[in-house]
Amino acid sequence: MAEKTKYDICIVGGAGHVGLPLAIVFASKGLKVLINDINEESMDMISRGILPFMENDAEELLKEAVKKELIVCSSDPKEISHSASVVITIGTPVDEFHNPVHTAIKGCLSPLLSYLQDGQLLILRSTVFPGTTEWLDSYLRANGIKMKVTFCPERIVQGNAIKELQSLPQIISGTSREAELAVEKLFGKISPKLVRLAPIEAEFAKLFSNAYRYILFATTNQFFMMTNSAGVDYHKVLSGMKEDYDRARYIPGPGFAAGPCLFKDTMQLAAFSKNQFSLGHNAMLVNEGLVLYLIDELSKHYELNESCIGLLGMAFKADSDDIRSSLSYKLKKLLSFQAKEVLTTDPYVTGDKRLLPLDDVIDKSDILILCVPHKIYENIDLKNKPVLDVWGFFQKGLLKK
Ligand SMILES: NC(=O)c1ccc[n+]([C@@H]2O[C@H](COP(=O)([O-])OP(=O)(O)OC[C@H]3O[C@@H](n4cnc5c(N)ncnc54)[C@H](O)[C@@H]3O)[C@@H](O)[C@H]2O)c1
Repeated sequence: MAEKTKYDICIVGGAGHVGLPLAIVFASKGLKVLINDINEESMDMISRGILPFMENDAEELLKEAVKKELIVCSSDPKEISHSASVVITIGTPVDEFHNPVHTAIKGCLSPLLSYLQDGQLLILRSTVFPGTTEWLDSYLRANGIKMKVTFCPERIVQGNAIKELQSLPQIISGTSREAELAVEKLFGKISPKLVRLAPIEAEFAKLFSNAYRYILFATTNQFFMMTNSAGVDYHKVLSGMKEDYDRARYIPGPGFAAGPCLFKDTMQLAAFSKNQFSLGHNAMLVNEGLVLYLIDELSKHYELNESCIGLLGMAFKADSDDIRSSLSYKLKKLLSFQAKEVLTTDPYVTGDKRLLPLDDVIDKSDILILCVPHKIYENIDLKNKPVLDVWGFFQKGLLKK
């Protein structure tokens, strides 16, 4: 590797939800970042200082970094050779059998092998199946490449990455002491605290963080369905439980537990444990089943085949434009079989041509379902339409006007 490199960091997958905020934060500390991605449209936007998705506090920093040429986009793999370190932030999905796509990392790196350099620092940041980091180290060595291989999981919550990257402790791990030291030096520039684990421990720590949250959401969703079926207001129960009672403080409210991470990472652990992760599987049944439960509840009060149903919020979570694995779309699909018509709206989602303006959906619908509690919905006029609101956002109970 050349002594003076052109870039401090190259982020493969750097136009995505994990890669781009990381690029922005490193650039804000004066590091020169190369973004390598297969999404040319997003790369073009980033090169013009435009965020391809919503991310708080990121836009100004991106514009500044692009202006100072601290963020550069190129899909030319040759450029990767000129970076001191290479970070991998590509997606690591599960397949149609809910098993991890083990080929994701290999598929990304194999075309890049001839551009990777001995001595470069490699940081795996995507969430991976336990054992992937050690496998990657052996794979590179088998191909004659001696990189410093590390795994440093991303633990931010999407939308708050800029703040959290600079406030959360960063778990770091490496396959050698040399790799650990190199990655400590790099993350020491942005993270307030470094937590050192072995690669397999760090891989489990990341997956457990997501599975635990998914199970927490399932717990509250199950409590919600239990009380609601008994005619009891769960939101009242929950607020009573939590009032000045520290041990109940962390119980979340009920709602759609969706998105690109929690479900699939719980399924990665299920696959790892040879389908013996009963808590994880049960969480999946509850969280995915909530949507079916709501349809059942609706059908007790309305003739669905005579009703036009309006869905408010199609993103996977509040104040986001991201529809990946959004349960709003599952609800829409299932209702489409039963309802006269299903109308959808979202203030932030782009690219779904079937979305209508909020007022049109409220006017035309017989029943509304709050799928995502975007803050912007706080003071909207629901025009006295009945609303199914599992979140307790409108403070009116599940199905009251
Ligand atoms: N989204 C989150 O909040 C979050 C949080 C923590 C961890 N993670 C993990 O981070 C990883 C990335 O998630 P994400 O939400 O950023 O996904 P994403 O889809 O937003 O970003 C992935 C990016 O990788 C690019 N890409 C795919 N294959 C590529 C290739 N061969 N070469 C170059 N670029 C390629 C895509 O075009 C995309 O821009 C996943 O493993 C996820 O589980 C995500």
